[in-house]
Amino acid sequence: MIYTFPKDFLWGAAISAYQVEGNNTNCDWWEWEKRVGLRETSGEACRHYDLYREDFDLAKELKANALRLSVEWSRIEPREGDFSTEAIGHYKDVISALRERNLEPVVTLHHFTNPLWFSRLGGWLNKKAADYFSRYAEKIAVSIGDRVKYWVTINEPMVYVHHAYILGQWPPQEKSFIKAQKVQENLTLAHIKSYKIIHEVYRKNGFISPCVSIAKNMMFFVPCIPNTINKIAAFLRDRKFNFEFIERLIQAKSLDFIGINYYTRSLVEVYSLSPRGIFLDTCRLNHSNLRKNSLDWDIYPEGLQDILLKLKKYNLPAFILENGICTEDDSLRWDFIREHLKNIYWAMQKGVKVLGYLYWSLIDNFEWDKGFKPRFGLVEVDYLNYKRTVRESAKKFSLVCGSNRLDAADR
Ligand code: FCB
Repeated sequence: MIYTFPKDFLWGAAISAYQVEGNNTNCDWWEWEKRVGLRETSGEACRHYDLYREDFDLAKELKANALRLSVEWSRIEPREGDFSTEAIGHYKDVISALRERNLEPVVTLHHFTNPLWFSRLGGWLNKKAADYFSRYAEKIAVSIGDRVKYWVTINEPMVYVHHAYILGQWPPQEKSFIKAQKVQENLTLAHIKSYKIIHEVYRKNGFISPCVSIAKNMMFFVPCIPNTINKIAAFLRDRKFNFEFIERLIQAKSLDFIGINYYTRSLVEVYSLSPRGIFLDTCRLNHSNLRKNSLDWDIYPEGLQDILLKLKKYNLPAFILENGICTEDDSLRWDFIREHLKNIYWAMQKGVKVLGYLYWSLIDNFEWDKGFKPRFGLVEVDYLNYKRTVRESAKKFSLVCGSNRLDAADR
């Protein structure tokens, strides 16, 4: 069987500032990690802030033609309204370094972290949050817009809301549906406003027209025991978590493509008939017999095809901005990539337009509250000396990137 992808398909990997750069001392995560005493804190992370050229060389070596990264708001605007020429200069160099290597930049503006001044003003609960954020978006679009086409305003807004305002796992550790709803609303407004501003900046400056979206984490929800209540809960979670945010943005005509992050499925099992039960309970009895990553997430590649097919009705191209596995077994990583690519291929055969596939992650990195243990990288990082080593799975993936054919890696 030959799986061929379009000639202009974008292949590559993704990273985010806080997880790889190191020393992002001016954001809420840095302060929070220390205050709560996380077992592993981000520290120097992968020293990518200094080593970005080497990391982009590796991406090039892997035959990637695209790379997704995030710029760090807290470096760019260290104090409210005060923009750092040095940090902006750094990111200009970063974009040039990508362009020199023919890597198409995909630039994220918000990947979970906030400047300290912003979080002290109440963060995403502040009524002016969308104004603050879009002013930063404008600044950065003016600075690097001449060489960037693909923008992601906000990474995984619903995951952020869920972890930071419902589960209370990430800063600011709230557990309130009411606050969560407000934050969701402000993130929506922040995207819509920034979308308009980025387009305006491009028009005014005569840059080629941008493609702006969010990175939407999509989860495949399955009722564990298929009784009525679990089925209803799975349906509601699919609506609330997967589709509500996207549909608002489509209504506001502020998505040029649909950015998707896909990792796993979730086994819905409602134990208590409360809002928390309906929206949050999952199977506690280990009913899943699927293979898992090292964080115990089910590996379910078919879910990606299903989701892509569900998105078809919106008539917008999809772009896989993250898909990946943390594992100690590198052959499982290649399996994971291959099976997800097959499902993307089948969705495309059924009429879904997909712009590209970016693996999470280019290099091992700081996996938020889970620390450095989960290894998601195509490239291994030795945290004792920051040495990078390309994994075998990456070599297989690079055969696909270089040929646009999946079978090339299996010969
Ligand atoms: C996604 C995040 C990314 C990384 C992966 C494993 O939800 O966007 O930063 O942590 O999960």
